Amino acid sequence: MGDQPLVFAHRGASYDLPEHTLAAYLRALAEGADGLECDVRLTRDGHLVCVHDRRLDRTSNGRGLVSARTLAELEALDFGSWHPGGLPADTDEPPDDSRTRLLTLERLLDAVLAAGRPVRLLIETKHPSRYGGDVERKLVTMLRRYGLAEPAPDHPVQVTVMSFSPLAVRRVHELAPALPTVLLLEVLPRWLRLGRLPFGSRIAGPGIGLVRARPQLLPALRAAGNQVYVWTVNEPDDLDLVLTAGVDGIITDRPAHTLTRLGR
Ligand code: G3P
Ligand code: CA
Repeated sequence: MGDQPLVFAHRGASYDLPEHTLAAYLRALAEGADGLECDVRLTRDGHLVCVHDRRLDRTSNGRGLVSARTLAELEALDFGSWHPGGLPADTDEPPDDSRTRLLTLERLLDAVLAAGRPVRLLIETKHPSRYGGDVERKLVTMLRRYGLAEPAPDHPVQVTVMSFSPLAVRRVHELAPALPTVLLLEVLPRWLRLGRLPFGSRIAGPGIGLVRARPQLLPALRAAGNQVYVWTVNEPDDLDLVLTAGVDGIITDRPAHTLTRLGR
């Protein structure tokens, strides 16, 4: 594979299947993605669940805040039928609920550990200010329980934690100094110098909009010794842009397309 970038499936193979469902993640692994991206937030009773939005409305048949519901209440909802890929698979296989059931972080970790192949998992913590550090604390505790908080080079599963919040990145670094982190960037903050990243992070995660607006950003970040993972790269022109500029990781809703373009 040489210097080719890693390919991460953003919320799973989320173009084809409902985001953050087990089916979307298993599809991405079957397609050959190097890694998976997921968002985590807390339920009312303190469980880490893989849901992007603060509210339930877009990706489930529920209404209101995820954080206002217990895990049991969320387990009763349908997280797949809003998406065309949430319909039952057109095969002879018995129907299962992997396209519609809420995914807990625990179930995702169990799935990647059972995958029988190397998997890189990017876990993004959502709303660090709302939860006052609980998301990061619970996440690190869970990763410790799974033996994933201190990466071992020969372990098949490698976890990296990401956040747009410098505070959250710093918290994770303090709780688990060996755990790699990504500082996500939607815009370029005034305080950010394009040298080594702060808060113990060695990976920058700019959005594709920022990369388009600042063509020198990727080379500058990499020249300073950082790695760069760009999200969410779905369009051929954007893929060409990041490949030309040089990138270490590509986060995409369409891992199969990206892998084909890379000749893999
Ligand atoms: O991978 C980073 C990217 O997921 C950040 O944006 O809104 O999709 O979580 P969002
Ligand atoms: Ca995310």
